[in-house]
Amino acid sequence: MSDPRVYIKDESSGKSLDLPVIRGTEGEPTLVIKSLPSTLGYFTYDPGFTATASCTSSITFIDGGKGILRYRGYPIEQLAAGSNFLEVAYLLLTGELPSGDELDEFHHDITYHTMIHEKLNTFISGFHYDAHPMAMMAGVVGSLSAFYHDKMDMENPEHRMLAAKRMIAKMPTIAAACYRHHMGWPTAYPKNTLNFTERFLHMMFSVPSEPYDINPVAAKALDLLFILHADHEQNASTSTVRLVGSTGANPYACVAAGISALWGPAHGGANEAVLKMLDEIGDVSNVGKFIDRAKDKNDPFRLMGFGHRVYKNYDPRASIIRAAAYEVLEELGTRDPLMDLAMELERIALEDEYFVSKKLYPNVDFYSGIIYKALGIPRSMFTVMFAIARTVGWVSQWLEQEGTPTPIGRPRQVYSGPGERQYVPVETR
Ligand code: ACO
Repeated sequence: MSDPRVYIKDESSGKSLDLPVIRGTEGEPTLVIKSLPSTLGYFTYDPGFTATASCTSSITFIDGGKGILRYRGYPIEQLAAGSNFLEVAYLLLTGELPSGDELDEFHHDITYHTMIHEKLNTFISGFHYDAHPMAMMAGVVGSLSAFYHDKMDMENPEHRMLAAKRMIAKMPTIAAACYRHHMGWPTAYPKNTLNFTERFLHMMFSVPSEPYDINPVAAKALDLLFILHADHEQNASTSTVRLVGSTGANPYACVAAGISALWGPAHGGANEAVLKMLDEIGDVSNVGKFIDRAKDKNDPFRLMGFGHRVYKNYDPRASIIRAAAYEVLEELGTRDPLMDLAMELERIALEDEYFVSKKLYPNVDFYSGIIYKALGIPRSMFTVMFAIARTVGWVSQWLEQEGTPTPIGRPRQVYSGPGERQYVPVETR
């Protein structure tokens, strides 16, 4: 069978064109439109890239209609049930699950890059105590290129992998340092005897005056959340990382840009916004009122943690997190009225014609905040948790792009400003 092509005819000029169609290993057929401007003289208009594939990638596959998410071919449900964050990080970075020896080596490499330059702590201490940790993260991660420029030849695959590992390893250390600065606590250095997630909990919550025992329930739940947030193909922050990377900028600058994109409430900032919203709703009896507000086109209020650009079905990560939230609350012996509120909100929304017809389902962030809260992680750090996990996706996607010849990302526009006019000096205006 020959490759499919799509025939386009411009009635005004009589010119026509056969556009090739490419297919990935999975997913929708995609029209290759590169030749449109040079042949028919048209650009394409697609604000928000709702219909545009910006790259080919072999890392993550989503079928939004069916609610499928796979990392390198492995269903998220299987990874969530059987794997751990560092193994998933290896998978995303390299394309394959590691052997036991490979995993040990990777664990060693990450562990021995967790410390940050002492001057970075000085940098962090320069922020005001109440700075938002996402603002600090963007600044501090961007500054890493000033500290770790020893091996920054981006043509060299070993240097690229080193930068990727450094970022995965140092992100929890920086995140915990930002939190401790806010709390006014002394620096907690990474403990190499712990695993990735335990080490982070230790750096977050240990104080010099008493021993800190890692709660295995907390460590397991956080590790699960890290797995679920690790990658999500060409979302806004990952596309930002790729766009910045396409200019040849260093990887630390790319990830700092990704952190800034993630912070927005329409993206990773939603987990913080969900709890604010649940607080505002306050009581199950108010749910109907807020559902009505979310449906009102004249009200900017949206149900946070609901809806997704790609999922038009239940976000598979939300199902896993919902079940985990139950377990965590039960195992920690905590009752959180916000959980009851969230469940009632979900129940009513899923039966409401507005949400049903628009295919709006809970997304990954609807229940994640409830778990973070149960683990004692403050709200302002919720999106930072997301950034720690998503760093793996960002650097994997950046590595993939760096390994492929990629033109600089440069979209076009439909200009809607004035036509040419003549400059008039200020005294005669
Ligand atoms: N509450 C109420 N209405 C909604 C919601 C919501 N949460 N989400 C979408 N809609 C409505 C829109 O008003 C729009 O209605 P219309 O067709 O009548 O104009 C329709 O559903 C489609 O919405 P879009 O904004 O076009 O959908 P898009 O794919 O561009 O946006 C987004 C997806 C940004 C996630 C959106 O659903 C939203 O703002 N959700 C709340 C924020 C959130 O939870 N973000 C986290 C996303 S997951 C992540 O990044 C980790």
